[in-house]
Amino acid sequence: MAEVVGLGPGSGLAAPQDLGELALEREIAHDEVVVLDYGGQYSQLIARRVREIGVFSELLPHHVGVEEIRRRKPRGLILSGGPASVYAEGAPKLDPELLELGIPVLGICYGMQALVLELGGRVEGAEVGEFGRSRLAVTETGRLLAGTPADQSCWMSHRDTVFAAPEGFTALASSTESPVAALESTERGIYGIQFHPEVVHTPYGQQVLTNFLGDICGAELTWSAASIVDDQIARIRTQVGDSRVICGLSGGVDSSVAALLVHRAIGDQLTCVFVDHGLMRKNEGEQVVAAFRDHFKVPLVAVDAEDRFLNRLKGLSDPEAKRKAIGAEFIRVFEEEAQRLGEGVDFLVQGTLYSDVIESGGGTGAATIKSHHNVGGLPDDLEFELVEPLRALFKDEVRAVGEELGLPERLVWRQPFPGPGLAIRIVGGEATKERLDTLRDCDFILQDEIRKAGLYRELWQSFCVLPDIRTVGVQGDERTYGYVMAIRAVTSDDAMTADWARLPYDLLEQIASRMINEVREVNRVVLDITSKPPGTIEWE
Ligand code: XMP
Repeated sequence: MAEVVGLGPGSGLAAPQDLGELALEREIAHDEVVVLDYGGQYSQLIARRVREIGVFSELLPHHVGVEEIRRRKPRGLILSGGPASVYAEGAPKLDPELLELGIPVLGICYGMQALVLELGGRVEGAEVGEFGRSRLAVTETGRLLAGTPADQSCWMSHRDTVFAAPEGFTALASSTESPVAALESTERGIYGIQFHPEVVHTPYGQQVLTNFLGDICGAELTWSAASIVDDQIARIRTQVGDSRVICGLSGGVDSSVAALLVHRAIGDQLTCVFVDHGLMRKNEGEQVVAAFRDHFKVPLVAVDAEDRFLNRLKGLSDPEAKRKAIGAEFIRVFEEEAQRLGEGVDFLVQGTLYSDVIESGGGTGAATIKSHHNVGGLPDDLEFELVEPLRALFKDEVRAVGEELGLPERLVWRQPFPGPGLAIRIVGGEATKERLDTLRDCDFILQDEIRKAGLYRELWQSFCVLPDIRTVGVQGDERTYGYVMAIRAVTSDDAMTADWARLPYDLLEQIASRMINEVREVNRVVLDITSKPPGTIEWE
């Protein structure tokens, strides 16, 4: 997510208007393989896996048209899975021209079925679906399955099944419910697998993809996220020339890496603005200033706006009202600082990621719809041109670039943190200074213990929530009437679904007892054991 100003439901700056803008303009320095998205749950993951193997990959909507694909001069094409039956009305059809591009094509799941149907093989709705782990019996490895064993496990998710390969194709493998689970025609350069090589439950998945990319497509496996650094630096220089550039730093990994890249490119033409709204976690503001101003010598304006924000939050307990108030105040502060910098600031750095690019313009046909409450925040009429150096990267790749640029581990691996900060973690009541401090102190203990236990990176998010209620307790023979602190810790890949983390009991005990001993206002600690769905990650 673009973390620069992730302050709530917003307009979203400069969402790509047409497919042309989806193209990630790049020098052809590395080979590319295009993944066509037929709406599968794992389509983004395919592109990420291809990149992990060392080949740059873009995910494009299945209807993008051959010209768009040709323009990229890819070494190969992968057709993703999808939720539809190939026989369903309105199911995306395979454009036969895709097979005339003169490059190898690999169909995965729906992609393979669409290929088989187009080429005259037999695909039928089976009585029994095949979901989850399956055994794959390889009769002939061919080129696609080379180097993988005769008996292996794989991950399946389909109901339609290929019963016969098209003429001229070799069936390579079968599975429990799929008579033809892999096939190829080396002559035509067309390959298909029913299983999902991109998920970790398919142990030889990376091998199969590597066979396709390396041996079959002949792509050089040299791309890495770090390899875009030089390219981006050159690009940023060309884009901004002598102009001055402003960047809103939030302390999150996206805006931090974007700012560092831009600073590498244009040095002191960049000014970063860090708005401390008083809703950050303990010491976070200091860490941002120490890293950027002191260590990286990036010109940084740190605005202590705590009083302004707390004033705006007075009397507000409704979460959306809080989000709106914080968002509006943020824009005001940011604009004031931009004005203070004077004339000639023409560009604004945004930490837009590739997943944002896909979600705002691509991915048509996907069965899942992502809420955009993380994106946007700055109004449309800000008179800046955007600099978005991370547009081509997935989150884990941004982290790799951050490490390459020497960003401290704490910033590179920081868990996501909502733009409105701790204010939305005081539930059902006003975010007062006293409550924020109580919450911040408990949150600090939680993070400290989770880090010490070595679990920080394993969790998508871990935080405390302070409901506006008090409960009775007894401490040192005295009756107390204190706050309840809730612990929320979840694992997740993308925040769309999440599971509550099974933290060890001993750790929970240590956290709870420290909170009660060290934070005077708290006399009870509870653990949230709700997954998403049905719950959400945050409480409001
Ligand atoms: P939920 O609570 O919807 O959260 O499961 C999903 C992810 O979004 C984050 N979140 C926000 N981020 N502004 C943000 O920038 C917000 O208002 C906001 N609300 C939730 C949440 O922390 C989780 O990562």
